[in-house]
Amino acid sequence: MKTQVVIVGGGPSGLLLSQLLHMRGIDSVVLERRTKDYVLGRIRAGVLERGLTDLLREAGVADRMDREGFPHHGTLISYGDEMFRINFSEHTGHMVTVYGQTEVTRDLYEARERSCGALLFNVDHVVIQDADSDAPHVTYEIAGVSHRIDCDFIAGCDGFHGVSRATIPYRVRSEYEKVYPFGWLGVLSETPPVNDELIYATSPAGFALCSMRNSNLSRYYIQCSVDEDAANWSDDAFWAELKRRIPAAQADALVTGPSIEKSIAPLRSFVTEPMQWGRLFLCGDAAHIVPPTGAKGLNTAASDVHYLYHGLRQFYETGISDGIDAYSHKALARVWKAERFSWWFSSLLHRYPDQTAFDIKMQIAELEFLRSSPAAQKAMAENYVGLPY
Ligand code: FAD
Ligand code: PHB
Repeated sequence: MKTQVVIVGGGPSGLLLSQLLHMRGIDSVVLERRTKDYVLGRIRAGVLERGLTDLLREAGVADRMDREGFPHHGTLISYGDEMFRINFSEHTGHMVTVYGQTEVTRDLYEARERSCGALLFNVDHVVIQDADSDAPHVTYEIAGVSHRIDCDFIAGCDGFHGVSRATIPYRVRSEYEKVYPFGWLGVLSETPPVNDELIYATSPAGFALCSMRNSNLSRYYIQCSVDEDAANWSDDAFWAELKRRIPAAQADALVTGPSIEKSIAPLRSFVTEPMQWGRLFLCGDAAHIVPPTGAKGLNTAASDVHYLYHGLRQFYETGISDGIDAYSHKALARVWKAERFSWWFSSLLHRYPDQTAFDIKMQIAELEFLRSSPAAQKAMAENYVGLPY
């Protein structure tokens, strides 16, 4: 088989790239290790920046998002019983859209199927070969049968545990990592959200987040220790802990119900540099991870896709390789800013095991500064709605 771009990984990065390339007549083959149902069963991000919503429109997959997504013009931050709002629209002129990653992925799968684009599931043993030459190829197996695709370029969109990053030799790769001493226990429940905007909460018992997918689907998170098992958390224990961490008025108003999904995600900051090796380009979680505080994971994956798509488009339309040559540099410049914001917002809102009384006073002082300073709110809002591409 031969194609122009092999895309390893059929998560949101890989699917979005394939659809954008398809719109410009550039052929790609997407190789996904799991089944479609497995990918759609993963409950992940929920907040989309303007850059991502614009890309989805450009890819022709935004109709349902435009109909069913919820514009959010601000967010609430609480500490104990204190709560304040940061108004995104007033500070930046922009907003974010609440629309689940699952729905984005579903819309992208449908578009790929409509366009009869190659998207292969249950693909095993993907090996990226000769990425540093002018004639790369990828080998893989499906149901025990070996296959080979020759291509011009390879996009490594296979997430944190994929094979693409590991294909770049150690001698050319630098990795930067911070592992946080806690995780997030997340619950999805068919209950009305406690508030129509997100509430990022901190309290002596730790962090909590009240988020949502729609008017009868809520997503809540609480900070937990990394070694816990979600199965050991009953729904009642989860709701009781959440109520302890949000202001009393919201705790009283909270509608609880059975969880339909419950899982623990560890928190990590991670970046690999460079994001390109020869004809292999890393996109999204394959190259970087942020803690979910601030909802930057999926959105940063989208900015990578934007830079790579434009670079490949320039190459195929004009033969000029400036865009693809600058890919790693441009993508990383924005990635590091998203890393900084997610790290800062995580540090502001979580309880750390080794935190001193002084550290806690610093968090409160910073929250009070954020509450009272329009300049600090503007900086937060600018990052939350998404820095320009
Ligand atoms: P992924 O979504 O990881 O997709 C990669 C795909 O590649 C997967 O489908 C995988 O099966 C496939 N793959 C892996 N290895 C191979 C291989 N060898 N061959 C072929 N295919 C392969 N972000 C937020 O903004 N908010 C959140 O609340 C949030 N929650 C998260 C919870 C969890 C548990 C995780 C892991 C991430 C979360 N994120 C969140 C981050 C966000 O979901 C990711 O940034 C986003 O999914 C990145 O998309 P991606 O396509 O780059 O990677
Ligand atoms: C979510 O709705 O899953 C969500 C929202 C905001 C975050 C993280 C997760 O910062």
